Amino acid sequence: AIERTFSIIKPDAVAKNNIGAIYNRFETAGLKIIASKMVHLTKEQAEGFYAEHSERPFFGALVAFMTSGPIVVQTLEGENAVLTHRDILGATNPAEAVLGTIRADFAQSIDENAAHGSDSVESAQREVAYFFSAEELCPRTR
Ligand code: CMP
Repeated sequence: AIERTFSIIKPDAVAKNNIGAIYNRFETAGLKIIASKMVHLTKEQAEGFYAEHSERPFFGALVAFMTSGPIVVQTLEGENAVLTHRDILGATNPAEAVLGTIRADFAQSIDENAAHGSDSVESAQREVAYFFSAEELCPRTR
């Protein structure tokens, strides 16, 4: 089915000038970017986005990293988009990610892992709505 998923290019990848290279991976995989913007998260925005991880030991470091510089957020649309996106991202820990995946090729560590992708259609709906209003979504008609 045609799905939407939510994607973040994290501060490490933005700092390394890898935005375009990662967008190319999305488009090559058949995912269409239907919304996109650069933002520099506040602590409150980062804590809210990652609220499900608030009890994890890495939460403080995660919030500090995600507010350390600008990020690029996008909504991706396509066939089986949630899984397609996660496949091209590779494992959360880049040391375990298959060569040729975004995290294997662009990330340093599990803390600074270049990109985020929704883990389910339900998460995607919440995450898309966290960053984009309905008017900011631009579904393709061609
Ligand atoms: P992300 O998909 O953005 O979701 C939460 C992030 O926490 C994850 O990517 C990792 O960058 C980071 N993180 C750090 N340590 C861990 C861990 N042990 N398990 C999962 N995520 C972790």
